[in-house]
Amino acid sequence: MATETPAFGLYVHWPFCAAKCPYCDFNSHVWAKVDQDQWLPLYLTEIKRESERTPDHVLKTIFFGGGTPSLMQPDVVQKIIEAARGAWRTSNDLEITLEANPTSVEAAKFRSLKDAGVNRVSIGVQATNNEALKLLGRLHTIEEAWAAVDAAQLVFDRSSFDLIYARQYQTLTDWREELSLALSRAAGHLSLYQLTIEDGTAFGDRYRRGRLPGLPDEDTSADMFLLTQELCDAAGLPAYEVSNHATPGNEARHNLIYWQGGDYAGIGPGAHGRLTINGKRIATEAYLDPAGWRNAVLTHGNGESASRTLSSEDVGVEALLMGLRVRDGLPDRRVPWDQINENEHNDLILNGFLERDATGLRLSDQGRPVVNAVINRLLS
Ligand SMILES: C[S@@+](CC[C@H](N)C(=O)[O-])C[C@H]1O[C@@H](n2cnc3c(N)ncnc32)[C@H](O)[C@@H]1O
Ligand code: SF4
Repeated sequence: MATETPAFGLYVHWPFCAAKCPYCDFNSHVWAKVDQDQWLPLYLTEIKRESERTPDHVLKTIFFGGGTPSLMQPDVVQKIIEAARGAWRTSNDLEITLEANPTSVEAAKFRSLKDAGVNRVSIGVQATNNEALKLLGRLHTIEEAWAAVDAAQLVFDRSSFDLIYARQYQTLTDWREELSLALSRAAGHLSLYQLTIEDGTAFGDRYRRGRLPGLPDEDTSADMFLLTQELCDAAGLPAYEVSNHATPGNEARHNLIYWQGGDYAGIGPGAHGRLTINGKRIATEAYLDPAGWRNAVLTHGNGESASRTLSSEDVGVEALLMGLRVRDGLPDRRVPWDQINENEHNDLILNGFLERDATGLRLSDQGRPVVNAVINRLLS
């Protein structure tokens, strides 16, 4: 009898960008020159290593994230996809997503990326006017971004784009207009993120020094979140996760693997992974610094900087942290009941933040905007 393994995806991190955006704390680096033909074998080595310890896993998704994977040469993307297809058994409807920045150069590559095997792109539009794009330090104009969205919709059956809201000088009315425009151009999936000011970024530094004026206050940001739900629901793209909206059937299957506690191998600088091996859940982490990762793979055939078996408590906390982000919540069997504060749980249900029935535990409409606070109380 075949061993049952969890849903499984491959995350490929490409850590390079043309410029560093001031709000971004992803593992992204600007290098004057990247010889991609030298980087390709490193990814292939990592695929081989990961597949050797997960021989029974069936690959459902591949996600090229970054950084800016649309800067990758299509032939490099193709060889990585071929290697993954050769290394694991794959499901018939393998989803292969690539994150793209919407400059004209990158949009011009969409056809070759499709020929390479990519079947879904996720485009970082971020804002719908040029002043806002400038404030975000983006290298593209809105005209280029819409052209990239059009090109993606022509080339790929599935595509999505990202916007960031609660930005400097943005009012609720501005967001209503931006989101309405975005919804009129969306092809079944949108990611809508509230701007987070991250420590260690240029925005983080400016914020600390009081030099990031015009950010909406907490109440306005909360109203923006509610408006987002209202407009997306009305347009038929409800949230299936806190920041992700789709028409039914258009959900990103790769990200659902993270949120629903599936397995994923993470390769490339700084990539994280979660693998179930011999009944144990292993958390893996790769060297963050691209040069350090490259040296590790070259010298030891292994880019992993850390790997540990998660305790059942860790698994429970993670299940809750990830699972409550999804609209459908967690099935009862995955809720870590022994770690949940019963009084808080009852109180959260009584006050309408949480819902529980025979199928499991989920956030209510009222609980969704305050997901982190709810989780903190449950685990207190
Ligand atoms: C891996 S990132 C960037 C992908 C791609 N390089 C780009 O810039 O379009 C994925 C998404 O996270 C969002 N994001 C990044 N930093 C953020 C922040 N500080 N606050 C809110 N959203 C953020 C952006 O919408 C971005 O498109
Ligand atoms: S937002 Fe995208 S393009 Fe900008 S630095 Fe981050 S990963 Fe690179």
